[in-house]
Amino acid sequence: MSGIIVIGSQWGDEGKGKAVDVFSAEADYVVRYQGGSNAGHTLNIKGQKKVLHLIPSGIFHQNTTCIISSGVILDIETLVSEIKTIKESGNYLNNPSKLLISDSATVSLHYHKVLDQARETASNNTKLGTTGKGIGPAYEDRASRKALLFYDLFTDEETLKEKLSKALSEKNFLIENLYKKKPISLKDTLNQILTLREELKHYRCQDTAFLIYKALKENKKVLFEGAQGSLLDLFHGTYPYVTSSNTVSGSALIGSGIGPGFIKKVIAITKAYTTRVGEGPFPTECSGEEGAFLQKTGEEWGATTGRMRRCGWLDLPALKYAVRINGITHLALMKMDVLSHLKEIPVCTAYNLNGKIISDYPVHSSKLSLSKPIYKTLPGWQQDISNIKKFEDLPTAAQDYIKLIQEETNVPVDMISVGPSREATIWRSQLF
Ligand code: GDP
Ligand code: IMO
Ligand code: MG
Repeated sequence: MSGIIVIGSQWGDEGKGKAVDVFSAEADYVVRYQGGSNAGHTLNIKGQKKVLHLIPSGIFHQNTTCIISSGVILDIETLVSEIKTIKESGNYLNNPSKLLISDSATVSLHYHKVLDQARETASNNTKLGTTGKGIGPAYEDRASRKALLFYDLFTDEETLKEKLSKALSEKNFLIENLYKKKPISLKDTLNQILTLREELKHYRCQDTAFLIYKALKENKKVLFEGAQGSLLDLFHGTYPYVTSSNTVSGSALIGSGIGPGFIKKVIAITKAYTTRVGEGPFPTECSGEEGAFLQKTGEEWGATTGRMRRCGWLDLPALKYAVRINGITHLALMKMDVLSHLKEIPVCTAYNLNGKIISDYPVHSSKLSLSKPIYKTLPGWQQDISNIKKFEDLPTAAQDYIKLIQEETNVPVDMISVGPSREATIWRSQLF
């Protein structure tokens, strides 16, 4: 078994980009398997900040092959611009075989974004606070079997035009009549694809599932990089304030087309506190000074939309719920340094729902919004920990914070991140 699934355990932005980049030093393959350009994964390579939306976070390692599998929504405009930025920033993508894109990934185009954004502002719709990247409309197309798949982009111009024309007839009807927006031009869309496919053709892979299978059979080290977070899962998150894909670990199997027998570990990337972007209930959210402190110290604004992230304390019932629905075997605790200067750190250990104490996570939005967190307050460590390399060298209060998480979840914290750089990482066991 040489497959490791890496997922976010909260509402996204836990630090998956940094973690996967650090893990990739040991990986042969890194696979993105769901979500799309709604993701923003931040890496810090030799002091330089890099944000990836679609390309797997292993791309800055010379010996790692990156795969975008069929579960992903391919925003081809963002993808081409990301490829260009990476090529310009060094020798990272000089060989196109370092990035392989599944022929059966779902393509998203401008009209998906227009629809997504129109719905967000329509008066008769619930505002979800989406990223506006067209994720919902693109997954809808896949589910209703109308989507353009990556290989469709490479058919002859006439066939492509016909497919686009069919898609646009329905989309434009909605865009014009329901949302009162300007229709999307068939000619412009076609021309955009014809231009972009010249770059994208170098990365086509007919069957990424077979490739991943072969790699796993040969005991190659494969990381599956999740996007978003468990509480944004379409089925198991805080519906309807969720994304349109499954973000739990099982999605890695479906999105990349392999069976569960190859999986050695499920590592949950967990922020030492909690953040959320967009709408939806968030019981441990802090307003006032505490929220502003976390926001400022943690530099909490979105890597994709630039929106301020809402900030709050760590929610242990939510983390235990994530452990259950993902089968989490290990935790990577991120951004511990952000808590360094607090005198006291509250942690939610249970909820009060209509006068009853509950420790199970009330995931349904209607229940969650009525639930009041019950906190245990831990002493802070009030010293800089960003240069510490060993768990034993952390201040006792920081060790106790980590031990509480381990005891409550019954899952070991194997990696602790104390800063955005690769070096600011404390290991407690081997990865593979
Ligand atoms: P992702 O979507 O899960 O990859 O997370 P994002 O990249 O959207 O957001 C995480 C942010 O935290 C990024 O700006 C990272 O550079 C930063 N980050 C990651 N780990 C740490 C850490 O341990 N300490 C600090 N201070 N920042 C971190
Ligand atoms: P990464 O991979 C944080 C949130 C949006 C919104 C909801 C639905 O960087 O952790 P969507 O555009 O997906 O239809 O929006 O999901 N969201 C994220 N929040 N991190 C992300 O990705 C997110 N991707 C989507 O803010 O609340
Ligand atoms: Mg992010």
